[in-house]
Amino acid sequence: MSTPLATDQVQGPVIHVQGLEKSYKELRVLRGVDFTVARGGIFALLGSNGAGKTTVVKILSTLLKADAGTARVNGFDVAARAADVRESISLTGQFAAVDEILSGRENLVLIARLRHLKNPGKIADDLLARFALTDAAGRKVSTYSGGMRRRLDIAMSLVGNPPVIFLDEPTAGLDPQGRIEVWQAVKELAGQGTTVLLTTQYLDEAEQLADRIAILHQGRIIVNGTLAELKQLLPPAKVEYVEKQPTLEDVFLAVVGDTHAEGPAMTAAPARPSEEQR
Ligand SMILES: Nc1ncnc2c1ncn2[C@@H]1O[C@H](COP(=O)(O)OP(=O)(O)O)[C@@H](O)[C@H]1O
Ligand SMILES: [Mg+2]
Repeated sequence: MSTPLATDQVQGPVIHVQGLEKSYKELRVLRGVDFTVARGGIFALLGSNGAGKTTVVKILSTLLKADAGTARVNGFDVAARAADVRESISLTGQFAAVDEILSGRENLVLIARLRHLKNPGKIADDLLARFALTDAAGRKVSTYSGGMRRRLDIAMSLVGNPPVIFLDEPTAGLDPQGRIEVWQAVKELAGQGTTVLLTTQYLDEAEQLADRIAILHQGRIIVNGTLAELKQLLPPAKVEYVEKQPTLEDVFLAVVGDTHAEGPAMTAAPARPSEEQR
């Protein structure tokens, strides 16, 4: 039985996280994480490698238990109502979970069947069209490019129309073309009213995609706002006669501190050719 999920289930934030703490033995990864995500739109959790982004996503998707704090997704407490949370979400992990031996269409039909949905073939065809995979529908996934694979992965997470989607580093390891394709797919998603929480370590990805950006650093959210709000944290730097608006990278380095104390430094996307500041 599959009942459609009421998208107006909660009036307040779709995701509500308060005082979240998590340690792996001695390693205190989350030290009191607080944020909320409103319904619809794209929320980016930005942080360096090892900042704890995947840990947050795992807790929100009920794969991991927090040591302290509370988290609600779609109105359900992740600890007390794990099954309801799982019904409300889909998770696309850092590594594509598609079956290589099957075709793109077969992967989608399989998921639709597993979710006991009616008309799995039609669901598959609709999603293939939405993600520009119709031409490749009958080909084995092993022949797909990285971008196609990731798009299929995201399409699979949409089977059953979950109101909340977690994308953990959706473009990690993709080439520039693949990244752009996935960005388009993600924008498409949010356009349909789905709430997207994505994690990324790429500043330009957050800048491109997110309505709101939260920076996770040393176990806490140190900044949270729209891109415009984040940029307002820094005054425009006057360089000779040209007024230069701060980039998200400037803001990030200013709030995080330009140190290399903890792990590898945040990287700007390697893929995009650097643009000259006007
Ligand atoms: N199961 C685990 N056991 C021990 N340490 C872990 C485990 N999972 C993650 N960590 C550590 O916790 C920190 C945060 O990991 P993670 O949430 O994966 O960060 P991110 O996704 O931001 O790169 C890292 O230092 C990582 O090595
Ligand atoms: Mg991660």
